[in-house]
Amino acid sequence: MITGCAGFIGSHLADAFLADGHEVLGVDCFNDNYARHAKLRNLRAARDWDGFEFVPIDLARGELKDLVEEVDIICHMAAEPGVRSSWGERFESYVRNNVLATQHLLEAASVQPGKRFVYASSSSIYGQAASLPTPEDIIPIPCSPYGITKLGGEHLCSIYHQSLGIETVTLRYFSVYGPRQRPDMAFARFCDAALNDLQIEIYGDGEQTRDFTFVDDVVMATRAAATTQGVDGAVMNIGGGSQISLAYAVETLGEVSGRRLRRRLSGRQRGDVRDTAAAIGRANALIAYAPQTSLRDGLSSQWEWAYNQHLRSATG
Ligand code: UGA
Repeated sequence: MITGCAGFIGSHLADAFLADGHEVLGVDCFNDNYARHAKLRNLRAARDWDGFEFVPIDLARGELKDLVEEVDIICHMAAEPGVRSSWGERFESYVRNNVLATQHLLEAASVQPGKRFVYASSSSIYGQAASLPTPEDIIPIPCSPYGITKLGGEHLCSIYHQSLGIETVTLRYFSVYGPRQRPDMAFARFCDAALNDLQIEIYGDGEQTRDFTFVDDVVMATRAAATTQGVDGAVMNIGGGSQISLAYAVETLGEVSGRRLRRRLSGRQRGDVRDTAAAIGRANALIAYAPQTSLRDGLSSQWEWAYNQHLRSATG
């Protein structure tokens, strides 16, 4: 089962499992964080496989026990994502889709303990970490409402693992990018600006750093976490392997796209941390994780995808 199957990471994960001959039960509630047609487009390749079944369901409300009973592995990718939009009224959706939905799914999984349950967590649980690269056992101090709900989900996984024997594995993804990236995220917005000859809006001074992680590396890690024996209960960082400034990433996008990018600095956003960097030794030791894709190659691939989407929409 892949929850959030119509989303950015969930849809890539489904494609990878299906290509390897697995059966995938995809679930998604099409929440309103971005256009439904973009999510349907993410599912296009998966729908071509006989081994793919899709169930539209809201995890926070729906009846999950029968669905969960059918599956061996649950990859819980569904979430209300995004740091900057988690303030104000929208926080209710964050609590619902990140905390309540996770608890419902864990409850359903606990009927038949022993299933592997991979939880998609986030570098946002660290906040502005006191140590970079950040090891998993540092005390997490999120600085956005989003980070708090993702950490709440982690704690739920931990207690359902300890008390009810669910084989949870928590992966803390670091700023994932690549084809199908969510439209609110930095590189998706930058590609869109470049394609429409608009200014790229940089929040803050552009010197903030991120451990950008290409989506294929995240898929590789998630599949290993879903299938490797003896790692239940583990919490692991999944980063791209280098800490890169936003300014450098924009420069690289300019090079790979061959476009002259126009930039505009605007205010720093609430909840946005200055730096992230993942210590990935634990993931390497437990699931042999080693990121394969450089920022340049990953950005080329995202640019090419965005360019083709743009052409398609321009030609109807
Ligand atoms: C991302 C995702 O949005 C979260 O869902 C995820 O959990 C998180 O990564 C994580 O790794 O914890 P973020 O790091 O903010 O969060 O990712 P981007 O949207 O790629 O932003 C990177 C940087 O670019 C941020 O400093 C952001 O403020 C900046 N940015 C973003 C801009 O300067 N301009 C934009 O138009 C968009």
